[in-house]
Amino acid sequence: MRAKVLVTKRIFPEAIALLERHADVDYEATDEGLTSRELIARARGKRAIVSQITDPLHRDVLDQLPGVGLIANVAVGYDNIDLHSATGRGILVTNTPGILTDTTADLAFALLLAAARRIAEGHQFIHAGRWKRWTIDLMIGRDVHHRTLGILGMGRIGQAVARRAAGFSMRILYHDPVRVSPELERELNAEFVTKERLLRDSDFVSLHVPLTAETRHAIGEAELRMMKPEAVFVNTTRGPVVDEAALARALKERWITAAGLDVFEHEPQVHPGLLECPNVVLAPHVGSASVETRTRMSMMAAENVVAALTGRRPPNLLNPDLWNSSAFRPEV
Ligand code: DGY
Repeated sequence: MRAKVLVTKRIFPEAIALLERHADVDYEATDEGLTSRELIARARGKRAIVSQITDPLHRDVLDQLPGVGLIANVAVGYDNIDLHSATGRGILVTNTPGILTDTTADLAFALLLAAARRIAEGHQFIHAGRWKRWTIDLMIGRDVHHRTLGILGMGRIGQAVARRAAGFSMRILYHDPVRVSPELERELNAEFVTKERLLRDSDFVSLHVPLTAETRHAIGEAELRMMKPEAVFVNTTRGPVVDEAALARALKERWITAAGLDVFEHEPQVHPGLLECPNVVLAPHVGSASVETRTRMSMMAAENVVAALTGRRPPNLLNPDLWNSSAFRPEV
């Protein structure tokens, strides 16, 4: 009998085609997707679920997914899934690491440049018919080249941002709970510093830590007040890592100069204070949103499901220790 798989929301069609070669696919081909109650009902009789970051898969939901052995999240971040509870219930969980690193780093750099050089403001200024003449300080911004970039979180994406910064001759400071190897520090020309020093000494601060209980509101009023008044702040990781109300105040009252934000505390809502600030560039959580990358992410999630269904260890397991006791694993 063919296994049944639930896909909770629209993904790229290549991934559905791959899944359909191996399973009966119950595909919710909409962008609204399913409420938790609908998801629980539709997951009945399914072996695997392909989920997205907007599907909250916390303990109360996981408790009601009997028979589901795998959740394949179409994202590198998995703060929408209670991994600990999933593991306790014997549910394998996979994500899509690596393939979105460069695309997300590109967007972080685009926001950094746009915020420093006031590109969105200039665009709106022209559209509003307000450009009357060239003046010496029209839309005057901040230099990026030869400035100091502080990278909070030196994982894959933080490293990719550092590589881009090298092209702008930037000095790199970084902070991470795990210091990278001396070889990598040399290659990236990155200096390991305390979080406080990074905040105080950087002209640009780019955030690349995952959202966890420890990192929630890691950037709040105290941290924003440590930054230079000239500082530009960039967030392409997860909104709740930043206290958005404090950030709106920091931008309004000019504790810092500008921000480039791709993620928000209560998506798709954006703090009203941020919407009033001309010195912030906003993007609707599109860090990995290139055709190539989103297609690869959809395929990677499908490949993880197909691997499990065909008795192979899914390549991107977040709870790898579970594989040996998993019902997917063939008898040896
Ligand atoms: C991720 O992968 O975690 C992004 O935020 C969604 O693409």
